[in-house]
Amino acid sequence: MTSSSTTLSLVDTDPAELAVDAIVIGVHSQTTGPDATSGPAGTLLLADGAESIAAAFDGKLTATLALLGATGGPGEVIKLATLGTVTAPLVVAVGLGPEPTGAAPAPETLRRAAGAAVRALAGAPRVALSLPLPDDADAPAALRAVAEGALLGGYRFAGYKTTPQPSRREPVAEVLIAVPDAADATAQAEVDRATAVAGAVRTSRDWVNTAPNELRPPAFAEAVATAARAAGLDVEVLDEEQLRAGGYGGITAVGQGSEAPPRLVKLTWTPQGNTNGKRVALVGKGITFDTGGISIKPAQGMWEMKSDMAGAAAVGAAMLAIAALKPAVTVTGYLPMAENMPSGTSYRPGDVVTMFNGKRVEVLNTDAEGRMILGDAMARACADGTDYLFETSTLTGGQVIALGKRIAGVMGTPELCERVKVAGDTVGEPAWPMPLPDDVRKGMDSDVADISQVNAGMDRAGHMLQGGVFLREFVTDDVAWAHIDIAGPGYHSGEPTGYWTKGGTGVPVRTLVQLVEDVAANG
Ligand code: BES
Ligand code: MN
Ligand code: ZN
Repeated sequence: MTSSSTTLSLVDTDPAELAVDAIVIGVHSQTTGPDATSGPAGTLLLADGAESIAAAFDGKLTATLALLGATGGPGEVIKLATLGTVTAPLVVAVGLGPEPTGAAPAPETLRRAAGAAVRALAGAPRVALSLPLPDDADAPAALRAVAEGALLGGYRFAGYKTTPQPSRREPVAEVLIAVPDAADATAQAEVDRATAVAGAVRTSRDWVNTAPNELRPPAFAEAVATAARAAGLDVEVLDEEQLRAGGYGGITAVGQGSEAPPRLVKLTWTPQGNTNGKRVALVGKGITFDTGGISIKPAQGMWEMKSDMAGAAAVGAAMLAIAALKPAVTVTGYLPMAENMPSGTSYRPGDVVTMFNGKRVEVLNTDAEGRMILGDAMARACADGTDYLFETSTLTGGQVIALGKRIAGVMGTPELCERVKVAGDTVGEPAWPMPLPDDVRKGMDSDVADISQVNAGMDRAGHMLQGGVFLREFVTDDVAWAHIDIAGPGYHSGEPTGYWTKGGTGVPVRTLVQLVEDVAANG
């Protein structure tokens, strides 16, 4: 079950003369100040890129948009029939917020605007974007943002309806982006990169949005392995027998309650030629459905736990983008997969589990299953040898309480957490460093084993941090690591906004790709 595709290309001809179904321009809201009250037309400001459209409207475009209710607020989309003034039948003004002084809009502003416009234009096969792009060193980042936003806002999950809905409007199939020089190699490289990266984000959204009965661990492993082989990655899949024999106690314990057995998928990108010798490991939580197991969850909202494999989806998809981008660094992805079910064969509170690195864990709550499968996968990554380990998971409800639905929590080696934050800010996937306090570790001392899976008194204080503190036990001292908790940002249950559609968001695919490129460039 996959989404339809959107293609991107560059144009440098006059936007007023483009034979497209709609032409998108940007509008700024006028910042509040002495001039802000100078009438309706004065509250709107056309962004760069709108010049020839404005000229075709004989100076009446701003006033007409204002009449239609345009304010230039971020994400606002106003459609205007052109009635022959320009070639396209529709002009679409997308809000960019206040005009930044002396600079082009921030990349994330452009990404969200492009996403909102393309999303609102579903039903129009071919659209052009003429948005304000800087002509200096910031040009590539701005173009990248517009391209990514367009491809992600144009995403729609195919779904399972047996009869097509009469009101269904097809996602935009073709997006043209107006640039100063369409033949410019740097610009074309950005389009290619955005196509690979946004394509990966879309793939991860598809996997998250797929119904959990269709994507149990063997099927998920097969889907990832098939895509990875096609991309030219080395693929290894461990089945339940190999996991048991290999000492993967955590993955085996969580997986044993389901009739659909667990898997560990390993994907490797090996660059040709010179590298800086660094190795990167990416690890993602792949719980294809989280009922909580014997410590079962309440029914309300449980369906969203089909998204509990968003970390594995992001790692698998990031590996596909990496295969396309060919960074000069070795990258290995580890995707532990299990279905957390209650049954006569489930693991249970009180069980003591021997993990891949030999540590023994006392299980207190079978709903803390993510750290069980991740501990094994992270220990395996360290055993294989790596310099950096980035792990991402929909690990704790505590992340959502602490940081909300947009900002991921990051725990681990402080310098690497900072690097994750910078990468996240760069790509528009914000992440915030959090501590790993000694007292939280102390609270996880077990009477019988090396560590409790959660606080020994089931105290939820520092809930998100307990996850990080637990995972630290499975990383060797020579490895710099970061745990990225995406319980909130991995899945969007609200109305679509910007380039976020409903369901899987694809966070943190773009951060992971950015980090890999960062390590390739800077060690
Ligand atoms: N998959 C959940 C975490 C989660 C919650 C993700 C909300 C997305 C949205 C995880 O496996 C879980 O159940 N965590 C428990 C841990 C607890 C039992 C220690 C939680 O957050 O309550
Ligand atoms: Mn759980
Ligand atoms: Zn879970």
